[in-house]
Amino acid sequence: MAESIVFENISKRFGQSVALNDVSFAIHKGEFFSLLGPSGCGKTTLLRILAGFEHPDTGRILLDGQDITRLPPNKRPVNTVFQNYALFPHLTIWENIAFGLRIAHRPETEIQKEVEDMLALIQMSDQAYKKPDQISGGQKQRVAIARALINHPQILLLDEPLAALDLKLRQKMLLDLDRIHDEVGITFIFVTHDQTEAMAVSDRLAVLHKGCLEQIGTPVQIYETPKSSFVADFIGDTNFFDGVVSEKAQKDYTLFQAEGFQPILCFNDKQLSKGDAVHLSVRPEKIHISREAPPQQPLHNLYQGIVDDIVYKGDHTHFGVQVGSRKISVTKQHSRFLLDESPITWKDSVWIWWHADDGFMLERCQKLEAPNE
Ligand SMILES: Nc1ncnc2c1ncn2[C@@H]1O[C@H](COP(=O)(O)OP(=O)(O)OP(=O)(O)O)[C@@H](O)[C@H]1O
Ligand SMILES: [Mg+2]
Repeated sequence: MAESIVFENISKRFGQSVALNDVSFAIHKGEFFSLLGPSGCGKTTLLRILAGFEHPDTGRILLDGQDITRLPPNKRPVNTVFQNYALFPHLTIWENIAFGLRIAHRPETEIQKEVEDMLALIQMSDQAYKKPDQISGGQKQRVAIARALINHPQILLLDEPLAALDLKLRQKMLLDLDRIHDEVGITFIFVTHDQTEAMAVSDRLAVLHKGCLEQIGTPVQIYETPKSSFVADFIGDTNFFDGVVSEKAQKDYTLFQAEGFQPILCFNDKQLSKGDAVHLSVRPEKIHISREAPPQQPLHNLYQGIVDDIVYKGDHTHFGVQVGSRKISVTKQHSRFLLDESPITWKDSVWIWWHADDGFMLERCQKLEAPNE
């Protein structure tokens, strides 16, 4: 796939604080790409550098092979939608959308057609003559998107566009964004600190942490094969064990010894050697739980514990299971409604088990501990 945008060794400091630290990656043409990371990790700074509102201290940005690092914002084929919609309150929705074309002195017939097309795209043709204070938050956000798209940018930047909306509306707007992206076919770069939002709509995403690029990949790659402890922890829940590789068990598998826990069999995809200190991550939904001992299965880790935490979440239940000195987090999906079965309860003695392939050994990340300020 064509690489449309290339960030090459981008660094940016504000005084003593490092906003971006040698960030390099590429975004493909037409991708729905998300930048994900906690507050202050550099997401907005990266967008502002791409839009031309901020200059990097080092590095360059290429767009379709051309260096645009020094181009002023109005010469870049990029438009931004911000969290606060910034609509003109005294103008109708129609005129808000038309604004960009009016200041470009485009002919009236063209403006008419483009605005009608945009209103259809955001499914608001019947609201065109209302003022911004007569429409909902989600509708305002759609108008802001139409206003940005009417200039036919090659790239649309969305900086936390849904943050001001409530959960149901955010979910609906995500579907709208996905549909609009499919219809216009341009590159969308979506900034969020909400991992479920990013996973739901993105073709690929980049996880940033303290100004560094931690990992880039599809939602499945990032969730199932996190490259660092930070990513494993930031994207979803996980059980972390600190320990060392203790010995080779059988071909491709190794035993891992965590403090206060029995040996754990792991797939050794990183070719780690005996004595290497690593983190082991096991996601709660990969762990099975039952009061009865399961039949012996090859390559499974099986432990006995006591339930001391239960949270019913409707579609699943979360269990905290005490195994030795460790509390292990386990989730169980409710695929059937089984009222007549006596459910696992508090203080029950249970078995928990997971396949060796479902534990991920992650090298201890120095970056994680080192503050960059
Ligand atoms: N104009 C500025 N002056 C000084 N420091 C800044 C400026 N802009 C950003 N920073 C700093 O750079 C770092 C990255 O900020 P940035 O706004 O890019 O984070 P973010 O990932 O968008 O966070 P959030 O999720 O809170 O929006 C932060 O430490 C921030 O304080
Ligand atoms: Mg921001």
